Amino acid sequence: IPIPVIAIDGPSASGKGTVAARVAAALGWHYLDSGALYRLTALAARGRGIALDDEFAVSRVAAQLDATFLEGMILLEGEDATELIRDERVGEGASQVAVLPAVRTALLQRQRDFAKLPGLVADGRDMGSVVFPDASLKVFLTAGAAERASRRYKQLIAKGESVNIARILEDIEQRDARDKARTVAPLQQLPDARLLDTTELSIDIAVQTVLDWWKSAS
Ligand code: C5P
Repeated sequence: IPIPVIAIDGPSASGKGTVAARVAAALGWHYLDSGALYRLTALAARGRGIALDDEFAVSRVAAQLDATFLEGMILLEGEDATELIRDERVGEGASQVAVLPAVRTALLQRQRDFAKLPGLVADGRDMGSVVFPDASLKVFLTAGAAERASRRYKQLIAKGESVNIARILEDIEQRDARDKARTVAPLQQLPDARLLDTTELSIDIAVQTVLDWWKSAS
């Protein structure tokens, strides 16, 4: 039986992770947060003192990554890394290791292994293009850069971090530019993906839209 996959790609802080997790919960499907694998790789490499542009060494870290995905919890080498990987510096590191082709190759099968019955909702940058090109539904989920910066700002403030919104916007734009410009698996809106611009949408409506698309596609 082919395993149904909903691929949700989009830029950072677009809310795709929240939407993807909620769609998965609503359908009773598995969920893949592919960005977490790049974040964990960056974190593990840094912990070993490996330079993030050392492609061979970082790809070995990726291939041997000891990560466990539990419900609402992510372990790295048995330790809770759920909060740690959300750190802005880890996100920055993730986007650095993500440009390395050998790292992407090392993580490919691991991502595909998440596809199990009754289905999978996967979010990232290349879910529809590289990891699950045969996905039953492909969504490109985005929001204006200023709106994304403001969402990230509120998240960080809620966590008690002192942040500067102009700086956040700058970081977001820099990361988007790197994700789009890289030669391997760049962030792009595929011709067969449906566009979901959430700039003025609530999470509830965004989730409902994806569920409606899935219903009409299946
Ligand atoms: O989605 P998230 O912000 O957690 O991803 C962190 C970084 O990992 C992104 O900026 C991107 O460079 C990289 N990434 C990727 N391909 C994916 C998911 C994430 O290159 N499928």
